[in-house]
Amino acid sequence: MILVTGATGNTGSALLEELRARGIGPLRGLTRDAVGARLPERVEAVEGDLARTESLKPALDGVRSLFLVPHLGPDAETLIAARQAGVEHVVLLSSITVQTHPHLGPAARNLAVEQLLKTSGMTWTILRPTQFASNALWWADTVRAREPVRAPFADIGLPTIHPADIASVARVALTEPGHFRRTYTLTGAARITPRQQVAAIGQTLGREVPFAETSRKEAHRRMSTALGDEVADAVLDVTGGDVNDELLKVHDTVSRITGAPARTFLQWASENSAAFC
Ligand SMILES: NC(=O)c1ccc[n+]([C@@H]2O[C@H](COP(=O)([O-])OP(=O)(O)OC[C@H]3O[C@@H](n4cnc5c(N)ncnc54)[C@H](OP(=O)(O)O)[C@@H]3O)[C@@H](O)[C@H]2O)c1
Repeated sequence: MILVTGATGNTGSALLEELRARGIGPLRGLTRDAVGARLPERVEAVEGDLARTESLKPALDGVRSLFLVPHLGPDAETLIAARQAGVEHVVLLSSITVQTHPHLGPAARNLAVEQLLKTSGMTWTILRPTQFASNALWWADTVRAREPVRAPFADIGLPTIHPADIASVARVALTEPGHFRRTYTLTGAARITPRQQVAAIGQTLGREVPFAETSRKEAHRRMSTALGDEVADAVLDVTGGDVNDELLKVHDTVSRITGAPARTFLQWASENSAAFC
């Protein structure tokens, strides 16, 4: 039995869909709302809240492999519960910032979970993706309202990754041999700037989407309401305010592990165009 946490999220939903499409199972998806979750066919939706470890018992029952989205509860307790339930292998969704920006709070928290997992008694595979293409959903309301998308660092390109590529690597790590005790840095195949992302969204909508570069200060003011000061600053650093060679580098890990080229931002935009119109 494979349990996927974050089953309704960007990566977890793609992972369940890919596992199901390949006839892999049995599969279980963790959600806080099993009725509303609408998971893929033949995936058992099990209710549980990572913030309440005792609620995870039904979801963990019989599970041998776990895809873990961290920071949704006390990860140390979750790992202990998983180990006690008989989980043998955990694929952890971490972040490239562990290696590019280890001084930032969110990166340090990811490193801490990686270390907890490595000493948990279970075997592990760690995924360190760069920024997700799905972060462009931040702009969906603005695009729908036909207002200009305002973003900082307009012409700094990062090798943004399609969440389905993270899912594809997770699927291989969960189901094929050779991926225990490995850490994978995951990026898309090419760098793309915010300006180019907005143009790609416009291309899929068949109209020009206006774009206006904004200052870091203005972006911070808007983001800090939802994310808080520290995380807003960290996000701004890693999306253009404090880039370094390792963050800009394109890695071929996705194609090496999955055998398929990494998906493009344009593909993500075209698959998600309904969110923008
Ligand atoms: N965005 C980026 O650029 C980026 C880059 C590198 C790493 N990451 C990492 O990626 C992770 C997020 O992945 P994602 O984008 O695939 O996730 P996501 O789309 O944000 O979805 C997370 C899912 O977790 C579930 N959830 C939330 N609180 C929960 C709780 N208390 N108990 C159980 N489930 C809960 C929600 O499902 P229900 O509502 O159905 O319960 C939700 O669908 C984060 O750890 C982040 O650090 C992100």
